[in-house]
Amino acid sequence: MTIKAMRIYPLMVLAVLAMMMVLPAAANAEGQSMPPPQQYWPHKGFLGQYDKAALQRGFQVYREACASCHSLRLLSYRNLRELGFTEAQVKAVAGDYTVMDGPNDEGDMFERAAISSDRFVSPFANDEQARASNNGALPPDMSLLIKARHGGEDYIYAVLTGYGTAPEDVDVPDGMHWNTYFPGNQIAMPQPLSDGQVTYSNGRSASVETAARDVVQFLAWAAEPHMEYRKTIGLKVLFFMIFFAGFAYAAKRRIWADVH
Ligand code: HEC
Repeated sequence: MTIKAMRIYPLMVLAVLAMMMVLPAAANAEGQSMPPPQQYWPHKGFLGQYDKAALQRGFQVYREACASCHSLRLLSYRNLRELGFTEAQVKAVAGDYTVMDGPNDEGDMFERAAISSDRFVSPFANDEQARASNNGALPPDMSLLIKARHGGEDYIYAVLTGYGTAPEDVDVPDGMHWNTYFPGNQIAMPQPLSDGQVTYSNGRSASVETAARDVVQFLAWAAEPHMEYRKTIGLKVLFFMIFFAGFAYAAKRRIWADVH
């Protein structure tokens, strides 16, 4: 490297670093929404595992507060067994919903109660109906929502807890709601959670924050039900590689021992 190149090189690195810091801020300024604050999630990180009790509570929140608008099409009722629900509990949940089946021997479609192997029943027959019931806005399917949004868990939690009153100089049209964290700050979803709206099976009523924390964990599980398996396999592979590296090193020393 010439002296000149050596002088320019650190400058270039600095310029790239500066751009990396400024660009995300600029992207955010466009929507004027705040970046979501970071939260602690037990399932995140290298060894993180799902908190089954939170997932069960989160499912209850989804069912009571979100399922009337948001579908969860990729899940079947029997997947709920993985949250620790018994077979009877899963059957009871499925039995509350109706699906269209058929054709029968006469060629007619018929309705029947859902069973464990059915997919979660969607609240609307199609996207058009969903929009028509929501002022033209489409409540997104939640199966992969945590993965589809930048910020994942932190972002969804922030949206659920981020409702408030708009600053005075901002006009919020009918059917829209002010949210600190939704891009552009105006969201078509009315505030979906309120304090005390959901009462857990232990008799405690959930605050907005508790319900949001639980439903976000449930949605994280829905987006990646096999995460724990993936992490366990990863750990085993890592242990094997460490062991194997030691083994290869010992073999190498032995094989080359006589070469001087
Ligand atoms: C009354 C219907 C309704 C209910 C109930 C409802 N939502 Fe929504 N939700 C919507 C609509 C409509 C949108 C689309 C909003 C938009 O695009 O402005 C939406 C959007 C969202 C988004 C997307 C934000 C984004 O970045 O696109 C999230 C996350 C969300 N809802 C979570 C929830 C959760 C969790 C619950 C239950 C606690 C819930 N919603 C209950 C109607 C609803």
